[in-house]
Amino acid sequence: MQLSRIVVAGLAVSLVFAFPGDPTEDPQFQRGRDLFDKPFTPAEGLGAPEMNADSCRACHQDPVMGGAGPLELNVSRFGRDNNGAGPFENLPGGQGLSKLYPPMVHGREEYPDPTQPGGADVFEQRQTPSAIGHGLIDQIPDAVIIANEDPNDLDGDGIFGVARRIDVAGEIEIGRFGWKAQIPRLADFVNDAMFGELGLTTPDNGRGFAVTSDNDLVPDPEVSQQQVDDIAFFLANLPAPQRGGSTDPRVTQGLKLFAQIGCAKCHIPSLPSPSGPVPLFSNLLLHNVMPAGFRGMAEPGADVGYYQTPPLWGIKDTAPYMHDGRAEDLRGAILAHFGEAEQVRANYVALSEADKDALIVFLEDL
Ligand code: HEC
Ligand code: HEC
Repeated sequence: MQLSRIVVAGLAVSLVFAFPGDPTEDPQFQRGRDLFDKPFTPAEGLGAPEMNADSCRACHQDPVMGGAGPLELNVSRFGRDNNGAGPFENLPGGQGLSKLYPPMVHGREEYPDPTQPGGADVFEQRQTPSAIGHGLIDQIPDAVIIANEDPNDLDGDGIFGVARRIDVAGEIEIGRFGWKAQIPRLADFVNDAMFGELGLTTPDNGRGFAVTSDNDLVPDPEVSQQQVDDIAFFLANLPAPQRGGSTDPRVTQGLKLFAQIGCAKCHIPSLPSPSGPVPLFSNLLLHNVMPAGFRGMAEPGADVGYYQTPPLWGIKDTAPYMHDGRAEDLRGAILAHFGEAEQVRANYVALSEADKDALIVFLEDL
């Protein structure tokens, strides 16, 4: 009864706010789609003057616009960690040094010279994740995410899980998006990416994710609030990944194994939202599944090695895998789990070849 009331409330909300019928037919969806696809020019403010690409689509394109990106388009972050001894420190210019603007690195594997002022000695690549279905993730309440935390490992399974807490204008909100769950809301990510990826300034909406002025000569803001809202609307209404629907009995067998060996402890098959269950296969919490000695970026509330459990819906279309694309395929992705997932990895390794295959066939159907 409880559930059906929630679903009915969700329907009522969508009747009030959504375009009648299919939101992908809404003119705002079309405008947002065009803006996501649009190559911006320096005359429109592209670059700050540095940037990573000239459009959102340049990186988010697999299997459709809004999706994931290939390895060649990984973005880079840099910092200092005293050659691995710690503590991690940000560079004076922040972690997101552009790959297209000095200090230029010739190969992305080369760090800026650590002996120079502002030099870095630790480097991290970030793969472009898919943003398909993120409108539903946006609706998952903070309380639902927090309910699965286990910061002191009270159940003693070696798996912790903490929500990313972010101060937004003095209020704590829970991070949902980005590899370190660094962004609470989808619309916040549009502001963040506009400047971080394209070097375009956006109006201040009071939430702290817009960069409102830059160093080029184009008057700020370079993109209007309406344009930000249009892109957010497009992303929010991109249809979520659909199950493949294979009738191969290994799909059911694989789902069973997924739960049995412990994958589902972090990749929770579904989380509730006001518009119904969201079958994302994630708890949206941070875990450290990196191998010992891993070096990477730290942020307040997301230390070195901590990444958000990525949703697995649509996973067959978004190779390569893990935050830096270190795994080429799904088997490689599973074997790239260590740390909190060490036991679960061992459970996987101990499966028969037939069971390992069933698990992969199941993942490919998500
Ligand atoms: C140069 C490649 C690149 C471009 C261009 C780019 N992105 Fe991204 N996008 C990324 C990467 C890499 C991440 C993950 C960033 C992280 O967490 O460090 C990301 C993450 C995202 C996410 C969160 C996805 C998730 O699963 O949490 C959204 C939403 C997003 N981008 C929207 C946009 C929008 C809107 C634009 C255009 C204004 C854009 N991106 C342009 C590479 C890109
Ligand atoms: C302790 C929590 C945890 C457990 C248990 C776990 N995962 Fe993960 N999984 C993660 C995290 C965190 C990442 C992201 C790591 C990174 O980006 O480097 C991840 C990444 C992945 C990816 C890559 C996703 C992408 O978009 O790149 C796949 C596939 C995956 N897990 C499947 C599995 C399967 C199958 C199992 C069971 C054998 C499993 N995971 C067990 C937390 C977990």
